[in-house]
Amino acid sequence: MREINASIGTDKRLWRQDLAGSRAHVTMLGAQGIIPAADVTAILAGLDTIHAEYEAGGVPEDIALEDIHMTTETRLAQLIGPAAGRLHTARSRNDQVAVDFRLWVKAACAQTDAGLKALTLALLARAEEHADTIMPGFTHLQVAQPVTLGHHLLAYVEMLRRDRSRFADAAARMDECPLGSAALAGTGFPIDRAATAAALGFARPTANSLDSVSDRDFALDYLSAAALTGLHLSRFAEEIIIWASQPYGFVTLPDAWSTGSSIMPQKRNPDAAELVRAKAGHLLAAFQHLGIVMKGLPLAYSKDMQDDKAGVFAAHDTLDLCLTAMTGMTETLTFNKDRMRAAAASGFSTATDLADWLVRDAGVPFREAHEITGRAVKAAEAAGTTLDGLTDAALAAIDPRITPGVRSVLSVEASVASRTSFGGTAPANVRAAIAAAREALA
Ligand code: ARG
Repeated sequence: MREINASIGTDKRLWRQDLAGSRAHVTMLGAQGIIPAADVTAILAGLDTIHAEYEAGGVPEDIALEDIHMTTETRLAQLIGPAAGRLHTARSRNDQVAVDFRLWVKAACAQTDAGLKALTLALLARAEEHADTIMPGFTHLQVAQPVTLGHHLLAYVEMLRRDRSRFADAAARMDECPLGSAALAGTGFPIDRAATAAALGFARPTANSLDSVSDRDFALDYLSAAALTGLHLSRFAEEIIIWASQPYGFVTLPDAWSTGSSIMPQKRNPDAAELVRAKAGHLLAAFQHLGIVMKGLPLAYSKDMQDDKAGVFAAHDTLDLCLTAMTGMTETLTFNKDRMRAAAASGFSTATDLADWLVRDAGVPFREAHEITGRAVKAAEAAGTTLDGLTDAALAAIDPRITPGVRSVLSVEASVASRTSFGGTAPANVRAAIAAAREALA
């Protein structure tokens, strides 16, 4: 029973939040005249001693004491005697754990946000460096149209911007204090919930005592934001893995962010990126796990809810590590511009530019221009050359409206420079988007 019942091994991580909650609670009990001032003083001093002990030597793990709440209260009684028994007046472990965990997750939102911001800054720096660098844009992993590398990296900046807004939303939503809900029904003592909420840095107390002790939405909000962030990091990791492969050769990983092989001396494997890709699975699963724990629980507290923390702690640590690794790789990757440009020019990637030119400069309806361009691609393919490699005569033979003026749009440079529509890939757009993103960050 003790073994299955105990959570100290996991919830010891809440010790700072647990002490903070107890300080706020006992101070309020004193101010409201619910317990004597001398006992408040003794309890606060005891809590300070425990703080120093945990900080110096860690939290003792005795499974007979079940959890962090009982561990601390037991130690308090050893230190100050029977007055310790007054701390739990008008409180239950149900609201105690709810407030501890909320405090922890709220801080985690801020910490994760800092990691997301660091990666965003790294992406912006590389995007600026490569605002003009040309690479192939893909659909179906087939070369589609040339894009700028800066634009491609800014796509991830957008994903991270949404991720940050999800953590910010979650933090704002969980900014309500459940302390004082007691076991489930509230209490008959004249407590001041607004005071404890304010002391703990919450915007306000929660409104319904039953909801307060049975709600774990804040943890699910954190996990859902973490799952989506993990998904984004995994897609970026996947691209780094593909780009670093020899047939692509778009990037070279530094030694610091790659590993060798125990048998093949030439190897430089993208292990960190591969592990980020794998760890995204844990993040997605953590949300699913807690959703499954919660979905069948009647109000209010059930012990199932003790199993809410391990997944959240692990998800937080995993995400933190993944963000650090992705930031490190982003900062130190070498982009092989020649390989990228050559690949961008392959696969008739400027065919759309030819079709658009026929529409714009020769007045051809787009569908017809699309068909003419298709014939030009076939001709180039048959001649073993690129669209730009076809002679003026060969182009005119495909359609007399294709005049030598078309050459101004057939290069990959001309292609990307022309994409100036809002949100498009042109270098000028990339620079403007970087400036806007930096301003939003500041
Ligand atoms: N260790 C418990 C948890 O984390 C604390 C709440 C216990 N409440 C109770 N009624 N047994 O959920």
